[in-house]
Amino acid sequence: MPLRSRHPVEEPVVVRRATLADTDLLVAHRLAMFREMGDHPARALARHAPAYVGWLVPRIASGELVAWVAEDTKQRPLGSGAVWFQPSQPRPGFDDVRVPYVLSVYTDPRARGRGIATTIVRRALALARRLGYARVTLHASSQGRGVYERIGFERTTELRYWLDPAQQRRTDRKRAAEAAAAKRAAVRAKGRSVRART
Ligand SMILES: CC(C)(COP(=O)(O)OP(=O)(O)OC[C@H]1O[C@@H](n2cnc3c(N)ncnc32)[C@H](O)[C@@H]1OP(=O)(O)O)[C@@H](O)C(=O)NCCC(=O)NCCS
Repeated sequence: MPLRSRHPVEEPVVVRRATLADTDLLVAHRLAMFREMGDHPARALARHAPAYVGWLVPRIASGELVAWVAEDTKQRPLGSGAVWFQPSQPRPGFDDVRVPYVLSVYTDPRARGRGIATTIVRRALALARRLGYARVTLHASSQGRGVYERIGFERTTELRYWLDPAQQRRTDRKRAAEAAAAKRAAVRAKGRSVRART
């Protein structure tokens, strides 16, 4: 399906279902996504690739996970994303024992802002709807949040407790850095408003 682009000279983009032949690309995009999110040390990413391949391949083969690849007209990859029909527990009003979960959404930096991620997520929603599911969930990166919220995803109240002390320390450092950045931004904003009044 051709997408509208902010850059009219660029070629149209085609989004197609991924197959097992796309495994290397899906893994490369997942690693690029995590690298860009910056939350994981390089060592952890290197170890993640074989673990993810071992997880991904049987799920694509069985249909438990469906992925899409966006390409230009010369079949050069521009982005990808997937939905995994994740095992879950039934809840009152919902008998589903799986919940569709969107994951590994990544667009090559040169192709961003052309609706690729939006189109892939909409494909995932359409498939889940067709299969009769009532909801779709995901965890958003800070870059992805706007895309998902514009589509209509709402924030939920999920909480997390780290049993791994190394992860807890990383979280504490990240929180401290975010708090310091917010404090600096508040000081800058106060400075601007004082200058504006004088
Ligand atoms: C987040 C990410 C997947 C978005 O990919 P993308 O293909 O650029 O996303 P879209 O083009 O669908 O939407 C991005 C922006 O383009 C706009 N847009 C969407 N469709 C458009 C269209 N047809 N024409 C012009 N602009 C469009 C959207 O409104 C959005 O606006 P924003 O810049 O204010 O956010 C990409 O930035 C990325 O790969 N980031 C690194 C990895 C990551 O964080 N992945 C998400 C994990 S949850």
